[in-house]
Amino acid sequence: MPDRKILVTSALPYANGPIHLGHLVEYIQTDIWVRFQKQRGNQCYYVCADDTHGTPIMLKADQEGITPEELIARVGQEHLADFTDFGVAFDNYHSTHSEENRVLSELIYQRLKEGGHITSRSITQAFDPVKKMFLPDRFIKGECPRCGAADQYGDNCEVCGATYAHTELKNPVSVVSGETPVERKSVHYFFKLADFTDMLRRWTAEGHLQNEVLNKLNEWLESGLQEWDISRDAPYFGFEIPDAPGKYFYVWLDAPVGYMASFKNLCSKKGLDFDAFWGRDSDAELYHFIGKDIVYFHALFWPAMLHGAGFRTPSAIFTHGFLTVNGEKMSKSRGTFITARTYLGHLNPEYLRYYFAAKLSDGVDDIDLNFQDFSQRVNSDLVGKVVNIASRCSGFINKRFAGKLSARCAEPEMFEQFRAAHEPIAALYEGREFGKAMREIMALADRANQYIDEQKPWIIAKQEGRDQELQEVCSMGINLFRLLIAYLQPVLPALAGNAAEFLNIATQPWPDQAQPLLSHGINKFKPLMTRVEMDKIDAVVAASKEDLQETRQAAAKKFEAIAETIDFEDFAKVDLRIGRIVRAESIPEADKLLRLSVDIGAETRTIFAGIKSAYAPEDLEGRLTVVVANLKPRKMRFGVSEGMVLAAGPGGKDIWLLQPDQGAQPGMRVK
Ligand code: 2FM
Ligand code: ZN
Repeated sequence: MPDRKILVTSALPYANGPIHLGHLVEYIQTDIWVRFQKQRGNQCYYVCADDTHGTPIMLKADQEGITPEELIARVGQEHLADFTDFGVAFDNYHSTHSEENRVLSELIYQRLKEGGHITSRSITQAFDPVKKMFLPDRFIKGECPRCGAADQYGDNCEVCGATYAHTELKNPVSVVSGETPVERKSVHYFFKLADFTDMLRRWTAEGHLQNEVLNKLNEWLESGLQEWDISRDAPYFGFEIPDAPGKYFYVWLDAPVGYMASFKNLCSKKGLDFDAFWGRDSDAELYHFIGKDIVYFHALFWPAMLHGAGFRTPSAIFTHGFLTVNGEKMSKSRGTFITARTYLGHLNPEYLRYYFAAKLSDGVDDIDLNFQDFSQRVNSDLVGKVVNIASRCSGFINKRFAGKLSARCAEPEMFEQFRAAHEPIAALYEGREFGKAMREIMALADRANQYIDEQKPWIIAKQEGRDQELQEVCSMGINLFRLLIAYLQPVLPALAGNAAEFLNIATQPWPDQAQPLLSHGINKFKPLMTRVEMDKIDAVVAASKEDLQETRQAAAKKFEAIAETIDFEDFAKVDLRIGRIVRAESIPEADKLLRLSVDIGAETRTIFAGIKSAYAPEDLEGRLTVVVANLKPRKMRFGVSEGMVLAAGPGGKDIWLLQPDQGAQPGMRVK
């Protein structure tokens, strides 16, 4: 039995959004590989964490009116629940906003600095003069300098595909405040990646990368490595750089360090030796599973950072492609942008695990989730082939032999062929050729079904004196089923668990030494998997469209679009005064309106206000509020309104009167 020490990671998901099926390709791929390694008896750890730092997370928390810490705590729990429910079994799930990560990020930075690999200089960037923050390109929008399309991001145009600097955008605005960004200078810190050119040339040539990725790396190395900006200015949610007040590590500096931090956290829980895995002389294997969009970070910056800071480099980076659904990019409006939670509301997670396994290879090609193909494959392979073997044989064993398998193996040679298949199947799992592994396993399932078809136990069962034969044939079927389940266990852990219960055995090790179960009592068979129903898939698509609807409504509710701008002169015409509500009366015929008498100093006005759903009249009397005093009187159904009280909120119970500070007096101007 092999006995390797292996540490495995998947990319850390950002803590500002839900896990969706696109993410799950990677986590399911990694989880299958890890489960396979563990089943083989290797010492293998799978760690991950939420990627919690950066501007988008800071702004999202701001939008929700909570602290970033509150946001990341909530999202971290949601992510872990999604993963767990999909059978993704981390040995540790941590956060990049952790003490371990702070200490390790600082250590790596200090060592790189001591090695002379950090430099600093002043750079000019877009700055939001209202929010007083520097703006990443994604937070600037304007008209494309090439095609003029409106509402394009600061770095590229989604309409014509042009890439440009944000300074080239026409009429740029900050997405955060709506204000025109200005250019501002500040000092940034840089990692001198070019110092590691030779090291990276050697490392990339040593076979740590897939061919397609290697070609890309060589292109990058040929065109010369640039310095990497690793700092961001306050306000920023992240770790402050030691000795650089107001400067923070860029999220991508501490994100991969999060792999180490999560493992460090596991070491303290389990008493493991951190250095045995990360030390320069470590003999452990270290693998990072990632998507093809983040190769630069993992195959250039990360090995260079590790090497420069005196740690070991990764044994390999395993890169996969993106997920398309029905041949197209996942789309919110088509209902194919499916979150993990929405899927789980309707379909068995192991359908998806099997389908992804059947489509995955060791390459970087995109994989397509085609709903028709998905249901056909699951129904024909898992329900029609694998589970069917057990259901065809178990009835006879239970009814006719009190659940006991035969004392003799009917076809030792066939059992041996199934056992010997462990070698090619293991090689395919090891090489991440899961699709090929599934085909091998399904070919064995076909043979098992063929054996049952040929033996026809349903006919033997009707013939007298053939009891032993019946028991042996059905026991043979059950024993073959057991081996198939052992091979599928990395992909279908829940099915394998239920099958083990039915077979009355412990979960199986890799079956390289397997012997047939003889004279062994099994339990009653319960259906191990039901067929995929197309209407459940339709329900997932419909629910995903609803999710989108809800998100839009929530956003619209919180922030209505900013109306057209007005000149300062127009604004200056608005006469805002403090008013005291002296009387408030309900108008029984009106759903929303209250009739208010408001003392605005010089006079008392009658004002109709649509705030009935949020305030009882008696709560308003005596209250100060802000009034538009020079609004032309308007004739309304219940009388003339002589002004307007200012309130905020989307409606219903959520309407808040604007309240002046204490000390304000009716009639005072609001400026
Ligand atoms: O691209 C992403 O979703 C990043 N959050 C991945 C980080 S992986 C690692 F470096 F932390
Ligand atoms: Zn354009």
